Amino acid sequence: MCGIVGIVGRTSVAPLIVDALKRLEYRGYDSAGVATVEGGQLGRRRAEGKLVNLEQRLNAEPLDGNIGIGHTRWATHGVPNETNAHPHFSNGVAVVHNGIIENFAELRNELKADGYEFVSQTDTEVVAHLVARELKRGASPVDAAHGALKRLEGAFALAIMFQGDDNLIVGARNGPPLAVGHGDGEMYLGSDAIALAPFTNSITYLEDGDWAVVRRNEVGIFDMDGNAVERRRQQSLSTSFMVDKGNRRHFMEKEIHEQPEVISHTLANYVDFTDGVSKPLDLPFDFAKIDRLAISACGTAYLSGLIGKYWFERIARLPVDIDVASEFRYREMPISKNSAAFFISQSGETADTLASLRYCRKAGVPIGAIVNVRESTIARESDVILPTLAGPEIGVASTKAFTCQLSVLASLAVRAGVARGTISREQEKTLVRELSEAPRFANHVLKLEEQIEKIARELSRYKHVLYLGRDTNYPLAMEGALKLKEISYIHAEGYAAGELKHGPIALIDENMPVIVIAPHDRIFEKTVSNMQEVAARGGKIILITDQKGADQAGIKTMETIILPDMPEIITPIVYALPIQMLAYYTAVFMGTDVDQPRNLAKSVTVE
Ligand code: F6R
Repeated sequence: MCGIVGIVGRTSVAPLIVDALKRLEYRGYDSAGVATVEGGQLGRRRAEGKLVNLEQRLNAEPLDGNIGIGHTRWATHGVPNETNAHPHFSNGVAVVHNGIIENFAELRNELKADGYEFVSQTDTEVVAHLVARELKRGASPVDAAHGALKRLEGAFALAIMFQGDDNLIVGARNGPPLAVGHGDGEMYLGSDAIALAPFTNSITYLEDGDWAVVRRNEVGIFDMDGNAVERRRQQSLSTSFMVDKGNRRHFMEKEIHEQPEVISHTLANYVDFTDGVSKPLDLPFDFAKIDRLAISACGTAYLSGLIGKYWFERIARLPVDIDVASEFRYREMPISKNSAAFFISQSGETADTLASLRYCRKAGVPIGAIVNVRESTIARESDVILPTLAGPEIGVASTKAFTCQLSVLASLAVRAGVARGTISREQEKTLVRELSEAPRFANHVLKLEEQIEKIARELSRYKHVLYLGRDTNYPLAMEGALKLKEISYIHAEGYAAGELKHGPIALIDENMPVIVIAPHDRIFEKTVSNMQEVAARGGKIILITDQKGADQAGIKTMETIILPDMPEIITPIVYALPIQMLAYYTAVFMGTDVDQPRNLAKSVTVE
């Protein structure tokens, strides 16, 4: 959610901190701030809104100092204004924080009773005051930070800095990620390795419950009891080039266009196109021996899992229990010992998904992580990493990660089918060949840009949009609606086409465009009946189909987007592209901030 940076450096750090924050802006972008120690004194600059505002502030009023902490915020407690922006100060202590301090109300009352005054509405300010109180009671800065940390409940990554000490930042992690970067006579803290990539590739990830004493030439890592702990130092694969838009207007546009390539890379990791086989995997369980599969994820990743359910059940006859992670983690679902669990996450840091993983871990179930960030917490806590090879996804709305998740799930379903003997060698070969065609068709769809842009211009005039689909295209309808609402702010809903008559049909009139995702498949005729119900009530249909579907629908549509005829298994992967492009161009016409839509964050590390 929020992004944190800390540098104990040798030159003026404020510009470096801002540069690192830019790489973290995907985590939150409603306000930002930086603090340094200069001449023994704490100084800070903060600004509401995007990082450019902070940059302007710093240009007007530069901040010197060779040590500093910075923050880009996604508001949880308190509106996004300058007063609530981090760093927060209390009597010579500066704090930046990502996460939620759950016992902040109790701590706030206690500190108020002790005479501490609160100027912000944040939960973070209690941390600054707690550390300051420990200092006042005579503790050293390190002991004061440790003492305060012991009082905190909830999820947090923190960086704490002290007036009068230009060689000390204390970092702490309990939930949201925090990495220490090792430099030459310089040390860094960052929410992820990408933030630190321009400075160093030598990274140590803190684990939950760790806190670190970071100085120019040394780093000590401790547990909450104060015992020193060893954490592996590793070479990060992140590079500073990872956040480049190329010649595209937005990251989202760039990422949509990368899909033929990244889908191809991802599929090639799981299937052998030449021999037409699904590759053997080193799994901690045997698909043939389990009787259920649990899948959990959030948002777009959840919708990929929902499509995966259709594949696992149809191809491998393997029942799948799937739920959004925020429900999964609390609904106390009985988990059969004879099952396995997959968690899907682009970032690998989503708090609810991680909590669901830990629930399954407790139940003793083998765990696979379908993640895009291999160094993430979800990856590290799983038994096997099943990577999506999408490359860094910076646009807040997930596009290429989604189609790569689908590519992994489809390949795994084929593998499961082979293991469980539900598909023959011939069927495996056919399915692998069909999957191998996804990148080619995705490429073809990208060429429909002009037509889709034209439809999007029209769509941007409406206030509500309905998406319909059946079978694997039902979760895709939900994904279409999610994509449209999150970046264009147009209200949209996705429904199973057959559900239309059970309620949503009441909404249909000439002001309600209905986007129907309907390749000409086994159930095409059923969807045609639903389209007729829409047409009879004056609804405006945008049909996404193939040539056969267009010829046979026999219904007047507002527009028909014709995709190539393709095998059924790859339709949700390829049909995802026009869905994403429609949302993208609509948002462009609406003039919204496509890559960083309001109220959202790329990595959701709070509940
Ligand atoms: C929507 C979107 C979100 C994420 C969700 C899970 O475009 O990107 O719905 O899919 O927040 O995030 P990850 O995949 O990082 O766990």
